Amino acid sequence: MAEEVAKLVVGDQTYEFPVLHGTVGPDVIDIRSLYAKTGMFTYDPGFTSTAACDSSITYIDGDKGELMYRGYPIEQLADKSNYLEVCYLLLYGELPNAWQLNDFKDRVTRHTMVHEQIHYFYRGFRRDAHPMAIVCGVVGAMAAFYHDSIDISDADQREIASIRMIAKIPTIVAMAYKYSVGQPFVYPRNDLDYSSNFLRMCFSVPAEEYVVNPVIARAMDLIFTLHADHEQNASTSTVRLAGSSDANPFACIAAGVACLWGPAHGGANEAALNMLREIGTVDRIPEFIAKAKDKNSGVRLMGFGHRVYKNYDPRAKVMQETAKEVLALMGVENNPTLQVAQELEKIALSDPYFIERKLYPNVDFYSGIILDAIGFPTSMFTAIFALSRTVGWIAQWKEMIADPQKKIGRPRQLYDGAVTRDYEPLIERE
Ligand code: CMC
Repeated sequence: MAEEVAKLVVGDQTYEFPVLHGTVGPDVIDIRSLYAKTGMFTYDPGFTSTAACDSSITYIDGDKGELMYRGYPIEQLADKSNYLEVCYLLLYGELPNAWQLNDFKDRVTRHTMVHEQIHYFYRGFRRDAHPMAIVCGVVGAMAAFYHDSIDISDADQREIASIRMIAKIPTIVAMAYKYSVGQPFVYPRNDLDYSSNFLRMCFSVPAEEYVVNPVIARAMDLIFTLHADHEQNASTSTVRLAGSSDANPFACIAAGVACLWGPAHGGANEAALNMLREIGTVDRIPEFIAKAKDKNSGVRLMGFGHRVYKNYDPRAKVMQETAKEVLALMGVENNPTLQVAQELEKIALSDPYFIERKLYPNVDFYSGIILDAIGFPTSMFTAIFALSRTVGWIAQWKEMIADPQKKIGRPRQLYDGAVTRDYEPLIERE
């Protein structure tokens, strides 16, 4: 069959470019030879029409509201799987058999402690530092502690760095929390599952026994699972771009944490809960919706809208159910924040402004309510998102490093600054 081509006509010249097909999703026009052939670049701020890599990890159909990890629908994984199994799937491409899963769990749980010297590192931060500032700093600093896993040309070192990141990130995030509340750091316990261990490191104190509630542990595990990967989003693309220069994995993940912090990305869960609290009561919703629709107000409905989903975010549906379960367990099903959230969702989904722009609730709309009910302060929300997303960043980074087509990322630009001019000595300037 003849290769499918796309034709580009510029003036009286026609250029041909191959069309590439994935297994599912839109085809892409391979424009790698565009500059060489035409002397022109493409212009795509925000990369809304650009596929920057090929990947076999995560697929999103934004119009249908579908998300799959390695081909498995997120709803099935949320219902039947658990976070560590999902980590294995994202990292290695297939669901593990029983032996593989046990071996993986063992490898992860044997790396949960951080170097004791890292404890001193924390003490250098102000007590009121934002956990994301601490996590970003400590993750970057890991390269100073684990010298035997920063040679990215060695597949074994890449593997051990991956396991270390997934194993230690809950410890790092929990320590950021403990530091902020002035309580002693809690060492990990390897007899607990991943999410129970994280909850214990956050909420137990040496003075008494801490028993993890299985409903809370399951909700935590679901939050981790639903945030584990999300294709080439801003922070993942940041990790890939940082990694494209052969930077060490800890530096790359720190770059991802930094990008995730922004309120348009991972910071939205913190911003969404703050917004729901600011609205406070159901009767104030119309006033707030009016502000969100007014471009001059600078207000957006946080937890609404998505670059890719132009339909209900499938993760938001799972989160909504879990929010109800957790709030019922905590005896706060009549919680005013949840009432505002439910009413706001109803009103926004029937408002032409939001319908026309296809603005639906995203995962962050409900995850903040759950984390709040569990007892986390809002400042911890994005750090928990970073914890969950670490496996996705690592899987995407590993995929990129192993790709024989890997190139340093180097976008170009449409320059619209001054043209060449001569330097004027200071004395001659007006
Ligand atoms: N509230 C009010 N209006 C909005 C919102 C919102 N949350 N989101 C988009 N719009 C409007 C926007 O003003 C624009 O209107 P118009 O066409 O009249 O100028 C239109 O919808 C398209 O907006 P856009 O900014 O071009 O859309 P985008 O795809 O670049 O932005 C987004 C996606 C997620 C940054 C944006 O929807 C947003 O800021 N949402 C709130 C923050 C949020 O919840 N982020 C979490 C995303 S999910 C978790 C994650 O991946 O990190």
